[in-house]
Amino acid sequence: MTDNDKTILVLGATGKTGRRVVNGLRGRGATIRAASRSGEVRFDWDDRNTWEPAFTGADAAYIVDMQDKPGSWDAEGQVRELAKQAVDQGVRRLVLLQARVLDKVGGKSLIAGERAVQESGAEWTVLRPNWFAQNFDEGVLLDGVVSGELALPAGHGREPFVDAADVAAVATAALLDEGHAGQVYELSGPRAITIEDAVRDISRATGRTIRYRPVTHQAYVDELVSYEVPQDYALFVADLVAQIRDNRNATPTDTVQRVLGRAPRDFSDFVKAAAATGVWNV
Ligand SMILES: NC(=O)c1ccc[n+]([C@@H]2O[C@H](COP(=O)([O-])OP(=O)(O)OC[C@H]3O[C@@H](n4cnc5c(N)ncnc54)[C@H](OP(=O)(O)O)[C@@H]3O)[C@@H](O)[C@H]2O)c1
Repeated sequence: MTDNDKTILVLGATGKTGRRVVNGLRGRGATIRAASRSGEVRFDWDDRNTWEPAFTGADAAYIVDMQDKPGSWDAEGQVRELAKQAVDQGVRRLVLLQARVLDKVGGKSLIAGERAVQESGAEWTVLRPNWFAQNFDEGVLLDGVVSGELALPAGHGREPFVDAADVAAVATAALLDEGHAGQVYELSGPRAITIEDAVRDISRATGRTIRYRPVTHQAYVDELVSYEVPQDYALFVADLVAQIRDNRNATPTDTVQRVLGRAPRDFSDFVKAAAATGVWNV
């Protein structure tokens, strides 16, 4: 089967990695079903009626689950049901996005869905990335950068931020190429940096002064809650940031190099490209 004959369902297709997976697969000539609540193909984890139509005709699927959803979401159970639906409809390959976070955060396991795809009967690959660089320009850190101050409970810990494009490139390879079945890929950028390093880089690239102010875990939770973020979600995000503070996943991996045959993108190169879009201008 050539890439042109393959149909791939991409969940989270409007998100940081999903969007890039769609582009990568299109570049290889595969037929894409780009799915999310607002995607070309409607898929909603909370609406079972959308699952079967989404998988129709798909040979493989990229699964982005809802592990950061506030409240009690049964990640393993939901991924298990989804994987069964996929296999029942003839999907042969599943690539699951999880996270390089082995501790529970906000009471949740971010690798809870892994067992479900591993036991699904499909060929499977699991991706466990570090924090994405794109949190600074598309995600949870954007508002702070634009305001000129990032106040986070990250202490002076280090994180090898990974570019979402590298995660997507590995996902694309796992969806289309052979040799990735049965692999759990831990994906990082090439070097671990502090939040101070990150804002220094962004300041240099934008010509603005962006500061980092370390705050306590509790102060951060309280601040998020004051902006009407639900308490459980605030705790989840604070625990995730604390992973940086504690250097929990600070050691870079060589997985991007091994899988793609090239180095992962450096944070500075991400910053130069993001600054050029004007996203951090006031
Ligand atoms: N951000 C990071 O640094 C990072 C690092 C490691 C792992 N991860 C993992 O990556 C995953 C995505 O995180 P992200 O930050 O990349 O998020 P994101 O960019 O906001 O993407 C989330 C995607 O999920 C879709 N979505 C949201 N609610 C949905 C629902 N109820 N049903 C179906 N689709 C839904 C969204 O599209 P619609 O709104 O159109 O539905 C969007 O396409 C999470 O599992 C996260 O833990 C993230």
